[in-house]
Amino acid sequence: MDTRQSSRSAIGRRSFLRAAALAAATPILTEAALAHAAADPAKPGAPPSGMALHGQGPNIPPPGAVLINANENPLGPSKAACDAIARMAPLGGRYDRNGETELLAMTFAAQNGLKVENVAVYAGSSEPLHYSVLAFTSPDRSFVTADPSYEAGMYAAMTSKARIVKVPLAADYGHDVKAMVAADPNAGVIYICNPNNPTGTTTTKQDIVWALDNKPKGSILLVDEAYIHLSDAQDALDLVAAGKDLIVLRTFSKIYGMAGIRCGFAVARPDLLAKLKPFGQNAMPITGSAAARASLEDTTLVATRKAIIGDTRRDTLAWLKANNYKVIGAPETNCFMIDTGRDGKSVIAAMKAQNVYIGRTWPIWPNAVRVSVGTPAEMAAFKTAFKAVMDSKAVAVETHDAGGHRADLGYYATA
Ligand SMILES: Cc1ncc(COP(=O)(O)O)c(C=O)c1O
Repeated sequence: MDTRQSSRSAIGRRSFLRAAALAAATPILTEAALAHAAADPAKPGAPPSGMALHGQGPNIPPPGAVLINANENPLGPSKAACDAIARMAPLGGRYDRNGETELLAMTFAAQNGLKVENVAVYAGSSEPLHYSVLAFTSPDRSFVTADPSYEAGMYAAMTSKARIVKVPLAADYGHDVKAMVAADPNAGVIYICNPNNPTGTTTTKQDIVWALDNKPKGSILLVDEAYIHLSDAQDALDLVAAGKDLIVLRTFSKIYGMAGIRCGFAVARPDLLAKLKPFGQNAMPITGSAAARASLEDTTLVATRKAIIGDTRRDTLAWLKANNYKVIGAPETNCFMIDTGRDGKSVIAAMKAQNVYIGRTWPIWPNAVRVSVGTPAEMAAFKTAFKAVMDSKAVAVETHDAGGHRADLGYYATA
């Protein structure tokens, strides 16, 4: 081995060891974990759904609970996806004999003018979100995020000991890309959640292109398109095909209704995807891969579901407006925020007492609560409970934030 080769392999070993240390350091934070923690503020760092709570059994909501707290899709997996799962189940004794995961990547690539090397398949997008932040941030390379926005990336940035730079949303509640790009010349990741969780508001393609053209050297844009199909926002996949410095995240948890089945993508240049690899990439369940492909191949699914969820959202927003409640911005997805004019956590607790679980608050807007769009029946229950809560006197709730937990990461983080 010549010296160049041996120093290259030493660097490879070092980055592998760094990746292994970082990956071992923190759990991957998911929407489910955040939603459950917010629903139960008495239990700091509450575990994700289904995990045993100190010997009390699984953490499950009471019967009849209206769950509009985790941006899930009440329609569930499509018929085609369920059929694919049923077809796959008997084949589950083998790993992936028919190459279901590769077929899925090929299908998505072909549908979007990409190469299969641009697509890495994971069990949801939480994993590649976490790894992208670990790979491209460090104590010298910050994580720049909108505020409020989805918190999982910040949590990963804490693991890599990166500075977290929060940039308030613009006046129209899109990302303020100019301020984000200017925020730190040593940015490692600029995270753009489009549409944004929690506001459901969108950022224009023009702004994303501008950010790509003007971002600090050596940084990447992490464009999280978990909710893109529910909105009219333009996606950024063509920028991947054009070889730009960005990673686009996609999930099957939202419009495709597969949150519990699990499938997601990181879409990027192969050299960027290679940087995520040292953090790990488990084999996909063949059920998840086959259900995802069946969803992609269903040509009417996205439009149908966008219309169903959009109609329910529009109806709920119209009701809120008619009753003089204040919705923030112009949400286009399956979630929105309401400025309640009082402590949001007390509203969440009062709604829970009525068996309606709504989403969490963000520190920048303590009076605003996030609500997910459920079925028309669920939103009818929401309207009744919300009106009753808002008609009653505000009561302050005690939260464990006073106990030294990181206020900027809400209930969950204990670091
Ligand atoms: C913005 C955003 N990104 C990523 C995810 C991760 O979803 P999943 O791991 O289910 O694909 C979520 C989940 O709610 C989300 O809201």
